[in-house]
Amino acid sequence: MSALLSNPKMDPLPGAETLSTVLRISKLEARYGESVVLRDVNLEVPEGKLVSLMGRNGVGKTTTLRCIMGILQQKGGEIIFGGKSWHREPPEDRARAGIGYVPQGRDIFPNMTVGENLQICVSLYGKKAKDRMDFVLDLFPVLKEMLKRKGGVLSGGQQQQLAIGRALLTCPKLLILDEPTEGIQPSIIDLIEDALVRLKKEMGISILLVEQYLDLVAAISDYVYIMDRGTIIVEGEPKILADPAITKHLSV
Ligand SMILES: Nc1ncnc2c1ncn2[C@@H]1O[C@H](COP(=O)(O)OP(=O)(O)OP(=O)(O)O)[C@@H](O)[C@H]1O
Ligand SMILES: [Mg+2]
Repeated sequence: MSALLSNPKMDPLPGAETLSTVLRISKLEARYGESVVLRDVNLEVPEGKLVSLMGRNGVGKTTTLRCIMGILQQKGGEIIFGGKSWHREPPEDRARAGIGYVPQGRDIFPNMTVGENLQICVSLYGKKAKDRMDFVLDLFPVLKEMLKRKGGVLSGGQQQQLAIGRALLTCPKLLILDEPTEGIQPSIIDLIEDALVRLKKEMGISILLVEQYLDLVAAISDYVYIMDRGTIIVEGEPKILADPAITKHLSV
């Protein structure tokens, strides 16, 4: 068993010694008011790998991502992305530095068309976003068909593709996604799975995936972290997800 039941001393990810680390979080602590939500979170994403963060509802997965994006100010610990330690920089700076964020619940502009939702990125990111547009429309052909439709009338799965597409237009080095399969029909989940694999393989994008859908995580992850009550309690290769002693931390 390669999983560790305590976090601070980490097993190196297979092959990690030859890879550089895109994101390294150490001893991260976060609070909402007086209540401590994250304590001593340690996690890393090596370049070109897909790392998943799992855990039951309310354990702190979204909070971890909010700290990485600078939406929530960390109370302690360190977030190193692209060789730099990030503390007080706003989300825009982190996005510009190469973190693409697909928030839980998608967060697209419902009153704008699909085309306008995508165009916002082009106006913010210029030529590199424009150059990426064809790739995004090829990755999610439904967006091409729906360019003139309002975001709000799309199905959940279509909105999720739009949210991922929009994040991709910023040409991220690291893409972080918060439960992209939540409430989405199985055929679209397969499509999102294929897209993530393609992004990793063809574009070399590193991915941090927050996800509760075990089959998806087991199929595409290089490494898995499991969180409970604000800290990482187990980590290892995805084969750990076949062990009931480990998946008991995921069941309600
Ligand atoms: N804005 C907030 N103010 C106060 N407490 C919050 C806030 N957002 C989240 N919390 C609390 O922080 C804890 C962690 O929440 P978080 O959203 O990070 O969990 P999660 O693992 O993403 O859960 P889920 O799987 O349901 O999305 C929960 O107890 C939640 O109630
Ligand atoms: Mg969440």
